[in-house]
Amino acid sequence: MDLESILFTQGFGSRRQCRALIAEGRVCIGGAVCQNPTVEFATAALEFEVDARRWQYRERAYLMLNKPAGYECSREPQHHLSVFALLPAPLVARGVQCVGRLDEDTTGLLLLSDDGQFVHAYTSPKRKVPKTYLATTRHALDEAQLAALRAGVLLHGERQPLAAAAVHARGERCLELTINEGKYHQVKRMIAAAGNRCEALHRQRIGGLALPEALEPGAWQWLGEHELGALAGH
Ligand code: URA
Repeated sequence: MDLESILFTQGFGSRRQCRALIAEGRVCIGGAVCQNPTVEFATAALEFEVDARRWQYRERAYLMLNKPAGYECSREPQHHLSVFALLPAPLVARGVQCVGRLDEDTTGLLLLSDDGQFVHAYTSPKRKVPKTYLATTRHALDEAQLAALRAGVLLHGERQPLAAAAVHARGERCLELTINEGKYHQVKRMIAAAGNRCEALHRQRIGGLALPEALEPGAWQWLGEHELGALAGH
């Protein structure tokens, strides 16, 4: 692929802007500045630098973000910052979308991708991807609440009761809960329907993919083969 198209597909602006970046000597490949937009490179495992920041060519972008509280999963946030403000501009420009949404005050594992099929597959209710959350509750948990969450609770506006796929008390007011759906405010509504109240919510895991401990709040990383395999192999 020629250098101009490489930058264009990776989110570095319009074709004209990409040509300008190259002409200005801001793009390096293999440690050398390349000022010719028509030079062809093999894209497999291709690394390049733009303004001294290193990038790897990726046909599709798959990433995970440790979402902090106070960010909305929307490109046009209403009251808070957007999670997209936490990503480098080329990733936003190439159109990555959130794979499902976390509430503004929910923290933890959020996937993003510009692969529409992937986004659809992991948000489709048919796929039943398990998502595990750690919830802090206002009141002490009791057996009746855990039993109700396991058996199923009827949420306002739903026809069928929704049951958690797994429920474990991790402390007096700390609950680990896995759900296979992704309905609006589902975890908070389930906890409320069981007679308690969710005060803080953190997503720990999607499928077999856990949020890495080393990924700080607000930080993101690429999903490699290993993470994508873990995600699918739940
Ligand atoms: N359930 C909720 O209530 N909120 C989230 O952000 C995710 C799941």
